[in-house]
Amino acid sequence: MKDILTAPFIEEMKQTTANMYRLGWDERNGGNISCMLDEEDVSEYLDVNRVIRTIPTGFDARKLIGKIFVVTGTGKYFKNVERDPETNLGIVRIAADGTTAELLWGYKDGGKFTSEFPAHMMSHMARLSVDSENRVVMHCHPTYTLAMNYVHELDEKKLTHTLWEMCTECIVVFPDGVGVLPWMLCGTNSIGEATAEKMKEFRLVVWGMHGIYGAGKSLDETFGLIETVEKAAQIYMLTAHLPRINTIKDSEMKELADFFKVDYRKDFLNL
Ligand code: 13P
Ligand code: ZN
Repeated sequence: MKDILTAPFIEEMKQTTANMYRLGWDERNGGNISCMLDEEDVSEYLDVNRVIRTIPTGFDARKLIGKIFVVTGTGKYFKNVERDPETNLGIVRIAADGTTAELLWGYKDGGKFTSEFPAHMMSHMARLSVDSENRVVMHCHPTYTLAMNYVHELDEKKLTHTLWEMCTECIVVFPDGVGVLPWMLCGTNSIGEATAEKMKEFRLVVWGMHGIYGAGKSLDETFGLIETVEKAAQIYMLTAHLPRINTIKDSEMKELADFFKVDYRKDFLNL
């Protein structure tokens, strides 16, 4: 059995959480990540038949029975994952009943998965129903995206349109746009269900006045989606109070989408 601390999936979680922390997206215990792993990959490092303990989830994830995830711990700081992955991360498998998680590694101090586990697992189910290659769900509190929530209308078309206008490549990176939920109580099954509903349509979902969710095939791709939104939000916040002299036109955004052959939300442009 190889040393799990050398596993590429742990290394990638360490690097991703460290980058997110340094960018200021994950103050204190803010943010959480879940990444689906291949059983064969995990088997090189762990005896997958050895369950350390079981943890009830409080929701039905029957479509994920047998699936294994590495998930950040609740109350744990992204800042500390690199230094102590075994306390701040856990590897869990959804048990045969669909409502229990089997801990295979991690949460060494007796901890458990993020309080946003419902939003994560429900989003995985929703994304997998439209994209069988989806592996990652990521949540964080990026500064400018959050700032923008207080001064921009929380309307999917309007918010997406403004973000697309802020950097030339935005429409190419997230042609499906950004879904928006109003402020809701976090950590609940209800916000999980609402997020998952949006995830059938969008890979990015803003939680009003809280943060953002992203989903993708890899940690890198998902990070890149959120990073691009955050960059656009930063440009917006740096310019929103100044007279706008120039802008990227809707016809130019269409040109970009056509040239890069991306299937964009046509109803989000005013052509
Ligand atoms: P956790 O510490 O439970 O992951 O919660 C952090 C968070 O961002 C809640 O939305
Ligand atoms: Zn949060």
